[in-house]
Formats: sequence, structure tokens, C-alpha cells
Amino acid sequence: MTDTSTTAPLFAPTRLGSLDLPNRLVMAPMSRHRATADGVPTPIMAEYYAQRATAGLIIAEASTPNQVGYTYPGIPGLFTEAQTAGWRHVAEAVTAAGGRIFLQMEHGGRIGHPDNSGLVPVAPSPIALPGTVQTPSGQRDAPVPREMTTDDIRETVADFAAAARLAVRAGAAGVEVHSANGYLLNQFLATSTNHRTDAYGGSVPRRIRFVVEVVEAVADAIGPDRGLRISPDNLINGIAMDDADRLFPALLDALAPVGPAYLHVGYADPAAPLFGELRRRWPAPLIANPVLGRRLPLPADGGTSAAAELLAAGADLISFGRPFLANPDLVARLRTGAPLNPVRRDVSMYGGDATGYTDYPSLT
Ligand SMILES: Cc1cc2nc3c(=O)[nH]c(=O)nc-3n(C[C@H](O)[C@H](O)[C@H](O)COP(=O)(O)O)c2cc1C
Repeated sequence: MTDTSTTAPLFAPTRLGSLDLPNRLVMAPMSRHRATADGVPTPIMAEYYAQRATAGLIIAEASTPNQVGYTYPGIPGLFTEAQTAGWRHVAEAVTAAGGRIFLQMEHGGRIGHPDNSGLVPVAPSPIALPGTVQTPSGQRDAPVPREMTTDDIRETVADFAAAARLAVRAGAAGVEVHSANGYLLNQFLATSTNHRTDAYGGSVPRRIRFVVEVVEAVADAIGPDRGLRISPDNLINGIAMDDADRLFPALLDALAPVGPAYLHVGYADPAAPLFGELRRRWPAPLIANPVLGRRLPLPADGGTSAAAELLAAGADLISFGRPFLANPDLVARLRTGAPLNPVRRDVSMYGGDATGYTDYPSLT
């Protein structure tokens, strides 16, 4: 049973960029691998997101801004007319259901495979992901990526800006730049993946430069409605950082003049000193994604006590991933303390048809 007194702020309206949100519950981006082989969002994706339109904000699953940025099969893109048209159907469905949707832009960097993109992945440095990458023929060893040239970097920055423009043309309310969880932007930030000796590697100001350039370019392209996702404490996909306590504050300081609409902190631990430091430095809204644990089942309260702790530590909005995946009407359930559908464990969260996707029941 949910303690509704500590979570009451979740149901208060707020403003994010130029958007008015009816509540502070955000659907976290979750790749569900149901786009076509050309990265075109499919009709069932429109249905899935529309079902979750009571979220204060939906942040849609990661979309790649160019061909080489593809991570896994079934990931949508945001660089062709057909992909834009597919996203338009999604955005229209969400808007018609009364919701608001941002599209997340993610370049995989070294997390990719020629079997998925037709291209050798690119990264700050030629260091392979320790592990495998999902391909149409199963898990394959991650290839050694090609080190990005400064021309590659310039073009990639432009690709993010172009993708943001397409997102807005598709009817999305804004975009989120994905700099978390070990993908390309995170690879530039981390000492384990960035061994460059040029202007994009080495010292903290150099390692944050690419991310700052991407956010600036997106800001120039679409104005205030873009957020940035980071995950300082989610050291997955071979990410290690010697100096996170200095790098992330420096990143926020560098972004202050650009002023993204929000900062989205994945794997947010309210007791971590770095979370407090980021909150103190960041003047704009902060979305925190509570740590519910990687394994299922999820906590019996659906994460509300973790959310309450983050609100008390200064978060303005709370994002949930798997609770929204399994509960199209999560907002109503948390508001009333109704029990949550558990995440199904008999079907994969990645790929497939309507089963375990659009067939989770709502209460009404
Ligand atoms: C199926 C699945 C797909 C995910 N895909 C993305 C993604 O595309 N982009 C991203 O930033 N995070 C992604 N994540 C991470 C979630 O946004 C979230 O941070 C994580 O699930 C923890 O939140 P939760 O405990 O509420 O599920 C994904 C998580 C899951 C379970």
C-alpha cells in the first residue's frame, strides 16, 4: 500500500521548459525493440505510448540520430523521412490521448555491430565494449570501434541537432539527449572509454566538450525544450570514471549558460554525495530515476518510498521505467494506492508483439 502523504508532491502540476505538466511522474525511456529494420516506429508503438498518456511526461525510447549510431535490432531512428512519419503517428496518438512526449536521442558509439548498422561502430577511442552486442543472429562479441575524427565529431553534433529538428517536426514536445548508461556521450565522459589526446579527451574540460557541444547544437536547433540524461552512478557497459565527483559538476557548470529544460539523473541515490552536489548546482528542474534494483520483482510499493526520498532530497520530478512498462495507468494507481501489475517475467522486455507490451491491463 502506498503512503500517499509522502508522495503527494508527485501529483502537483509543474512546468518543464515551455510545457505545463499535470503531474510530476515521468515515464523513463525504455527501448522495446519494436521498430522496423529501417528504424521506423510501428503502429503498436503508438498504441503503447498512448496507453501511458496520463504520465506527466513520456520520454520515449532511445532513437539513433544517424546510421552508425544504431545499437540493437528494432531500435527506432530519427534521421529519415519515414522514421519521422512513424514518430508523427506516435506523437499524434499520445497528444490525442491528452499526453506529452519527448523523444530520446541516443548514439550507441562502441555499443553497436556491423550486423545491425552495416557500419563499423565509432567511439572516442578504439576500445571494444567488454562483452557482447545483440544482433539478428544472436549475441556477438562487440567489435573494436573506429576512433572518431574531429570531422566525425562535428558531423555527429550536427546529426543530433538535425534529429532534434525532426523530433519537433514529428510533433514531439521536445527531446532528451542521452548521455547515460555507457552509450556514445557517456563514452566521451568516461576515463575507461576516452583515451584521446586531442581537444575531446584527457582533462575534465576536454572530456565534457562533446556533450556540451551536442546540447548547445540541440538548443540552437529547437530552443528550450530539451533535457539531458546522465547516470553518474550507473557504471554499466564498461564505464569507469576516475573523477565523476569533479566531472559532473563541471558539466553542469558548462551547461548553465545553455540551460537545458531539465537534468534527468538515472540511478539516482539520494544519499550519494554527488546527487546532493548536482542538485545544489542545477538551477532548473531535476528528474530523478529511483534505484529500484536491476532484478524483478520490483519493490511491492512500486518505488514510491524511493521516490519520496528523492523528492525530500530535492528532486522535482520522478521517472519510473518498469512500473510504467507494466502499468499503463501508473499515475492513477499510485495516486489511489491501488496495487500494481507486476512486470511479466515469461516474456522478454525487448522485441516481440503485443504480449507483454500493449496487453498490460488498466484498472478502468
Ligand atoms: C526494457 C528497458 C529498456 C531501457 N531502455 C532505455 C533507453 O532507451 N534509454 C535510457 O536512457 N534508459 C533505458 N532504460 C533504463 C530506464 O530508463 C530506467 O533508468 C531503468 O529501467 C531503471 O528504472 P526502473 O527501476 O523504474 O525501471 C531501459 C530500461 C529497461 C528496463
